[in-house]
Amino acid sequence: MKPNDRNNTPVILEKDAKAWWKEGVLYQIYPQSFKDTTGDGFGDFQGVIQKLDYLESLGITMVWMNPFFGSPLVDNGYDVSNYTAIHPRYGTMEDFQEMLDGLHCRGIKFVLDVVVNHSSNEHPWFQQSRSSRDNPYRDYYHWWPAEKGTPPFRDSIFDPEGAWQFDQQTNAYYLHYFAKEQPDLNWENPKVRQEIYAIMKFWAEKGVDGFRMDAFQYASKDTTFPEWPKGHEKEYDKWYGMRPQLHDYLKEMYTEVIEPYNLFAVAEGAGTSFKDAHDLVDADRNELQVAYHFDCRDISKDLEGYQLSEFKAVFTKWDAAFKNNGWLAIYLSNHDVARLIDRYGNTDAAFRTPSAQMLNTFLLSMRGTPYTYYGDELGMTNIDMPKIEEYVDVSAIGDYNRAKAEGEDMDQFMKKLNFNSRENARTPMQWDSTKNGGFTEGKPWKKVNDNHQTINVVAQNKDPKSILNHFRKMVKLRKDNPVLVYGQYQILQESHSEIYAYTRTLDEQQVLVLLNFSKKQATITLEETTKTGTLLINNYDRLDAKEGQITLQPYQAIICELIN
Ligand code: NOJ
Repeated sequence: MKPNDRNNTPVILEKDAKAWWKEGVLYQIYPQSFKDTTGDGFGDFQGVIQKLDYLESLGITMVWMNPFFGSPLVDNGYDVSNYTAIHPRYGTMEDFQEMLDGLHCRGIKFVLDVVVNHSSNEHPWFQQSRSSRDNPYRDYYHWWPAEKGTPPFRDSIFDPEGAWQFDQQTNAYYLHYFAKEQPDLNWENPKVRQEIYAIMKFWAEKGVDGFRMDAFQYASKDTTFPEWPKGHEKEYDKWYGMRPQLHDYLKEMYTEVIEPYNLFAVAEGAGTSFKDAHDLVDADRNELQVAYHFDCRDISKDLEGYQLSEFKAVFTKWDAAFKNNGWLAIYLSNHDVARLIDRYGNTDAAFRTPSAQMLNTFLLSMRGTPYTYYGDELGMTNIDMPKIEEYVDVSAIGDYNRAKAEGEDMDQFMKKLNFNSRENARTPMQWDSTKNGGFTEGKPWKKVNDNHQTINVVAQNKDPKSILNHFRKMVKLRKDNPVLVYGQYQILQESHSEIYAYTRTLDEQQVLVLLNFSKKQATITLEETTKTGTLLINNYDRLDAKEGQITLQPYQAIICELIN
């Protein structure tokens, strides 16, 4: 007899299992750029507290905040030197608690960024580890003794010099997949894992609701460090990520932390195959709940833009692979890429509003937990930074040095960087049209985009047709209609070159989503467009429908409930 028969309860297939994190709408806050209350030019927790009503007004139900822990800030906090302390820039632990309570009072859950593939080189563990070869913390990190010769090549994501850094003190090299100030922790050491679970428990006790596991796919390493073939680094995630042992660690983490505290955890990255992704998140595996893959952000890196056909293909294939089991995040932007609207929409004055609304309609009508990056609810855009001296990001500077060393055309490189750089997405939030966009009374750590005079919360609050108010309507629509959360996704007329059309179906309810991704009018005829329907949302005042044929205006986005 199966356990479920014994209990006489129906077997619940995972596809039917409901969960708050599936129904959630997540909003990502980059804390140093959200709202400054001290005048030091950096956002802080009190700033978030001031804006709690704003967050509530969006209707979002989850906040993921980038790291705010003790850190020398080489990678803006992704280099942690004290995992249980608040960086003074953001306030105190009391401020943190006040912010968390304020979010909880408004029904908003909090997701903490857990950066444990690596720590900062200023973390006491690393200070101990590098101090002598027989220090008890030595094997908290990966070391290669110099007398064994040069270590087998490992590439670094940030450092053009590679992932091994020679350290004079003990005549050995240490491993860092990111910057040399971010040494990789040795997850094969059970003591390290217990330290990490203790950190996660510390935050769970404070009341956080979930974790976002930074760069987690790289955590497990083959500590014999075999030689890998030349050029292997071109398939970085395949060689550096998702070792089978990772799953043992995730299961252990689940038992130690996730399950007892009833938390949610999302992985940055999803391996290199659907199988990898399923292995991370399928419910019966007891590892994580959600993963996010990089395919959607990788299709738009270049100045030439992206192909709608590729965009549709990525989302369709991932949806199909997760139809019955597992769950994904749906996102198009975050703190690691340029702004949503510059990459997928159109920043021309005539098209900025409808294209941002169309993209938000897409994000909030797909299957998967939608992630919105702060400012995308307003259509915030890239800034212009043509000179390398203006950049502070460790990754931009690393890429620049690498390109220079490889003799690339540096004018072209700078053009690309200006468009692609993640610094574009880190400019201060645009609250109003005053100096510094209402972000700070002091000098902002990063210049506020000049367009804050027109693109800002105060202006968009007043305008019922703004990007912001459309975002709020879309969030509400999703929350009011489980079909938008759980409904099956079916793409229609996939080859259409301007319109992305799909249905979502749950039991008797079916909605049709039509999105014009182009700056021209576009027409579509479908079996579904011949049916009677109720328009649920439209980012234009008009909808041209004639004898089953629908013509959409540039970047028009509609959702219609079909009446069968
Ligand atoms: C991924 C984070 O999203 C990114 O911002 C950071 O630089 C790297 N991991 C290293 O922690």
